[in-house]
Amino acid sequence: MRSVNVTTGRTVGIALIGCGTVGTGVVRILQSEIAAIQAKTGIRLELKAVCVRNPRKKRAVRLPARLLTTDPHAILRDPSIDIVVELIGGIAPARDLILEAFRHGKHVVTANKALLAEAATAIYGEAAKHRRLLGIEASVCGGIPIIRSLREGLTSNNISHFMGIVNGTCNYILSAMSRQNSDFTDALADAQSMGYAEQDPSLDIDGIDSAHKLAVLARLAFRSEVPFDRIPVEGIRSLSAVDMQYASELGYAIKLLAIGKRDGKGLDLRVHPTLLPKDHPLSNVHGVYNAVFMHGDHTGDLLFYGKGAGMLPTASAVMSDIIAIAKAVAAQSWTMEPAPEDLPKLPVLPADRIASRYYLRFQVADRPGVLGNIARTLGQHDISILSVQQKGTHGGRSVPVIILTYTAREADLRAALRQIDRRPDVRQRTVVLRVDG
Ligand code: NDP
Ligand code: HSE
Repeated sequence: MRSVNVTTGRTVGIALIGCGTVGTGVVRILQSEIAAIQAKTGIRLELKAVCVRNPRKKRAVRLPARLLTTDPHAILRDPSIDIVVELIGGIAPARDLILEAFRHGKHVVTANKALLAEAATAIYGEAAKHRRLLGIEASVCGGIPIIRSLREGLTSNNISHFMGIVNGTCNYILSAMSRQNSDFTDALADAQSMGYAEQDPSLDIDGIDSAHKLAVLARLAFRSEVPFDRIPVEGIRSLSAVDMQYASELGYAIKLLAIGKRDGKGLDLRVHPTLLPKDHPLSNVHGVYNAVFMHGDHTGDLLFYGKGAGMLPTASAVMSDIIAIAKAVAAQSWTMEPAPEDLPKLPVLPADRIASRYYLRFQVADRPGVLGNIARTLGQHDISILSVQQKGTHGGRSVPVIILTYTAREADLRAALRQIDRRPDVRQRTVVLRVDG
């Protein structure tokens, strides 16, 4: 099929600010695909500049010296540049550079979910004010086109809920721990060496990166401003191999999930490690892969799956935004999404209002009556027990006891555990994990 060029035919100028893992992938794809992109879309792209911190650093792509700069403001002032691609990450100076880019009339593409979650009102607001496009496909789930699906493919749907694995680093670590018995630290080091982790990997393992992505997705799925700092977040740092083992014996895998639900007049948004039945499709998403289940009222259930991090999958998402915006620039026509002030600000449910099933691991004295006391206290707080298993035998000083509950309110569970964990026959703080699927 021949493509027809219905655009003005002018070259669209692109500049990158940042050329690390993702930027290198973008340069690589631009260098190898520029002619193919023109043949497929009629759009002529030209890489005009690449801004980095250290121009002497050895790079995995060849960049002509005339393209390299350390001055991002020179890029923002250059009238031949239409699209600024921010790939440095973090809040400062990325936030100010993007705001400045809009003020200079540039369109912006970014993979910076931290910024999109924590400075959403400023970033989306400035784009709307200057009527400039903001491409964010690479900010969530690497190469999976989930943002475009929400912005375009699913527009006529009301999304009631979604649940997904959105952090490649954590999924890589959990997969390595459960499938190869790897040590947490070694698995994290591997994920870092492959370019999956954030510059500060605690953003990954403490669940913050997943919460950033949850905020970005929830804003689009539920058409609401999302107060990022209200999202309850737990990461995988304190997850122990022993709980992964016990969960597995009970027929569950443990995954770090980002969960978004429209709940009455508010939003139930949260990130936490979750036990999922082993036959649940998300249990079978391994390594750097991400997957998101979503429910639209017209589409029914949807499942998105693909590589969630890494150079080329993420660069592919950046390129999809560059091409979409370049088409709009060449045609000199685009439409804007609602400005932040035109979106409702639905409240986020506080953690204690959440209802879930639970996996509880008690470490208790191995003597008669101990289990009875725990069961009684749970019952007094309206928590029903689904199953109980004692691990280990009589004769030890203390034994682990695993209880799975039916659905209970988080506030009731916390109140029960405050009482239980004070008992002298309970030897450690009880481990609490949620169960879903
Ligand atoms: P890297 O750390 O690999 O690269 C950062 C780049 O930014 C480097 O080229 C660095 O320059 C440059 N840089 C940093 N500060 C400045 C500055 N002040 N001025 C100019 N250049 C600067 O990051 P990634 O490529 O991994 O990530 C980039 C963004 O993409 C982040 O927002 C990240 O969250 C996001 N992302 C990353 C994914 C991944 O798999 N890695 C996946 C999805 C999103 P120099 O090279 O000279 O040091
Ligand atoms: N650090 C992120 C991850 C990069 O591991 O998922 C992709 O957003």
